[in-house]
Amino acid sequence: MPASPEFTAHNGFRLPAIGLGTYGLWGDAGADAVAAALGAGYRLVDSAFNYENEGSVGRGVAASGVDRSEVIVTTKLPGRHHPSSKAPTSIEESRSRLALDATDLHLIHWPNPIQDEYVQAWAALVDAQQRGVVRQIGVSNFLPEHLERIERETGVRPVVNQIEVHPYFPQSEQLAYHREHGIITEAWSPLGKGSDVLSQPVIAEIAAAHGISPAQVVLAWHVARETVAIPKASSLEHQRSNLEAGTVVLDTAEVDAITALGRPDGRLFDADPATHEES
Ligand SMILES: NC(=O)c1ccc[n+]([C@@H]2O[C@H](COP(=O)([O-])OP(=O)(O)OC[C@H]3O[C@@H](n4cnc5c(N)ncnc54)[C@H](OP(=O)(O)O)[C@@H]3O)[C@@H](O)[C@H]2O)c1
Repeated sequence: MPASPEFTAHNGFRLPAIGLGTYGLWGDAGADAVAAALGAGYRLVDSAFNYENEGSVGRGVAASGVDRSEVIVTTKLPGRHHPSSKAPTSIEESRSRLALDATDLHLIHWPNPIQDEYVQAWAALVDAQQRGVVRQIGVSNFLPEHLERIERETGVRPVVNQIEVHPYFPQSEQLAYHREHGIITEAWSPLGKGSDVLSQPVIAEIAAAHGISPAQVVLAWHVARETVAIPKASSLEHQRSNLEAGTVVLDTAEVDAITALGRPDGRLFDADPATHEES
């Protein structure tokens, strides 16, 4: 199978176009699913303190037998750990649960702008990177105003912003902002989890034209928009098919037809980062 493309951040850090989401992968089955995905060729795994699965993800990475240096393991700092009194320990706890020498990519999970302690959280990640506890640092669910503030106050720009992106919520303006600033976009719920997006006729038509599945069409759409997709898949069948989608090339008209499914109220989880607060 040809390799999926990679996307590069402002500091040269690179991510493969398709990674594995793990929300809902827990316990032994979760560890087995992570190990299977790595065995199938995945090299990027997403996780979070709040998913309560860092232990399983770490066991899956260890059991996979894939060389540690090839795997990028992500986790996220929760809102209740933003303060400078809590963040350093939380970051070390995550690394310890993952049983890694260092976390490859550590993100702030949500900005929680009303709580307004995300600059402290970012400063703690900058410090953890300098101490070698984490390799690369980024954010999730940050709006441009949040991105600009952490860079202004610390001088450090995130390498990644992981945000909700799927055909019902294409976020074209925010993707353009990221591209302009060398921030890699990662799409959460890239398949529009729980919605009917995979049944949309336009996606079925493109799937038929390429002889691929609707999920593969949506993942190829993300790749065409230079966005890393992290679909969660528990079965090896879905994992393989999702990874293979990284090599599918859609033409501009196909990409635009899928983007046109977007709606202003297309968020699936009613969580606007301007107001949403997550502990
Ligand atoms: N940063 C954040 O705030 C945030 C928020 C939400 C999610 N996330 C991350 O993003 C990841 C992905 O998002 P998500 O889990 O919400 O949604 P998603 O990846 O869009 O959808 C997952 C669902 O799609 C199914 N699926 C996977 N591959 C498929 C295929 N080829 N064909 C048909 N169905 C398929 C999965 O079923 P099976 O498991 O049965 O394969 C699962 O039910 C999460 O796991 C998490 O790591 C981050």
